[in-house]
Amino acid sequence: MTGAGAAASQAYGEAWYWDERYRKEAGPFDWYQKYPALAPLLRLYVAPHQRLLLVGCGNSVFGEDMVDDGYQDIVNIDISSVVIDQMKKKYHDKPQLKYGCKGHVRFQSGSFDAVIDKGTLDSIMCGQNSQENATKMLEEVNRILTETGVYILITYGDPSYRLRLLKDMQHWAVKLHVIDRWERSSNQNKWELTKPLPLDEHSTSLVELLGPKPDVHYIYVCVKGKYGARVDSKAEEAVN
Ligand SMILES: C[S@@+](CC[C@H](N)C(=O)[O-])C[C@H]1O[C@@H](n2cnc3c(N)ncnc32)[C@H](O)[C@@H]1O
Repeated sequence: MTGAGAAASQAYGEAWYWDERYRKEAGPFDWYQKYPALAPLLRLYVAPHQRLLLVGCGNSVFGEDMVDDGYQDIVNIDISSVVIDQMKKKYHDKPQLKYGCKGHVRFQSGSFDAVIDKGTLDSIMCGQNSQENATKMLEEVNRILTETGVYILITYGDPSYRLRLLKDMQHWAVKLHVIDRWERSSNQNKWELTKPLPLDEHSTSLVELLGPKPDVHYIYVCVKGKYGARVDSKAEEAVN
């Protein structure tokens, strides 16, 4: 990355950077993947009547596409008040989509069945104090999720770091799915989206399976509750 590129990405966790960017770029823009490509996986983990939070929604059409697919209750937040104002205006006639600026709203514990994060933890991890800020964000995600809630992280971040970070939180069991970065015709898809990859303690089988520098986005599904953290720690106990 060039000096200017590195400086810009370091600002990805800052409200002023995104405010400026959203003032200049009309959008809409979806980072990494669009909803239709991810829908088969999301439908596995989140039912249309459940309460959903899209964290760091930006000006993507992800929420709109989810509503068109039957989802009824989607709260969207972002650190940028500029984009939140734009989205409130754009979707004033879609009551299923609600918008709020991060820092202006504090959700009660257990408010959501699912939190979907496409590129937001990544942005936070580009900035200063990335480890600390990422941990803070994940603690907050855990707090606002119900006891059986699910956090779905769509990211470019490979398992070498993201998996440890998510597992170390010890709030949930982590499953990993992958999707090709670029759309291919359906019969050429290399990875089966809805099938989680096998995870061992050191991710060695993953490295073997995916090969070096795989051209994929990673989807970490963190499941709380009976099928989540407790099951995960039992599995680890059995290994030790
Ligand atoms: C890479 S963009 C992804 C936007 C959108 N989710 C998408 O997939 O197209 C990251 C978004 O996260 C927002 N953001 C950055 N830090 C944040 C934070 N701490 N809390 C909430 N939103 C944040 C930015 O304003 C930006 O809209």
